[in-house]
Amino acid sequence: MGGVPGAGKTTVINKLKEVLKEDVFVVNFGTVMIDIAKERFGITDRDAMRKLSRVKQNELQLAAIDKIVELEKGKRYVIIDTHLAIKTPSGYMPGFPKELLEKVKPEIIVLITARPEEIWERRHLDTSRKRDLESIDDILEHEKINIAYLMAYSAMSGAYALIVRNNNGKLEDAVNRIKSLFYDGEK
Ligand code: AP5
Repeated sequence: MGGVPGAGKTTVINKLKEVLKEDVFVVNFGTVMIDIAKERFGITDRDAMRKLSRVKQNELQLAAIDKIVELEKGKRYVIIDTHLAIKTPSGYMPGFPKELLEKVKPEIIVLITARPEEIWERRHLDTSRKRDLESIDDILEHEKINIAYLMAYSAMSGAYALIVRNNNGKLEDAVNRIKSLFYDGEK
């Protein structure tokens, strides 16, 4: 599951865990990455990782996915809280390049979105993070790039691509949309 920072990935996942009867294993890609980044590069701030060189970020991605593949062994339902497109100072880079997709073999790739104005406001209200100051247009651009990556990953892996809107006050709708995936149709 991906989305721009502030789209509400973690909020949706936490609520989903509360309402699902199924045991779902959730792993936050950024948390696994930062633990490895601390050891290898002495970085302690998760918002600093996207400013590392592409080579270093790629090394962290590969190490993180190997750890996640280990952790998810034997689990029926797994949700990875992650990013589809990483906004680095040199441009966007894939959050899930081919090597990662081949290791996790996703069934459904979910993009969580919200209105850009809402995302802007949510980021400004969150004082716990060192976020880059972005305009509404910057957020819109990142959203468009995410959709492009979503479709590329779907084409590469054969996974479903699903866009879920998590607008203000519509958390329940977003959660119910994803919840329905656990009960609808043949899996
Ligand atoms: P991480 O910390 O996971 O990413 P993030 O997107 O910055 O996390 P946030 O918690 O800010 O965003 P969120 O969308 O989860 O929003 P939240 O639910 O908190 O990742 C950190 C770093 O790891 C990345 O920057 C990157 O460097 C690295 N990384 C991760 N994956 C990678 C990968 N694959 N490859 C390389 N690097 C990777 O909600 C935000 C606020 O909105 C909350 O206050 C919440 O209450 C509110 N809110 C949410 N939904 C609603 C709603 N419906 N109505 C009203 N308020 C709402």
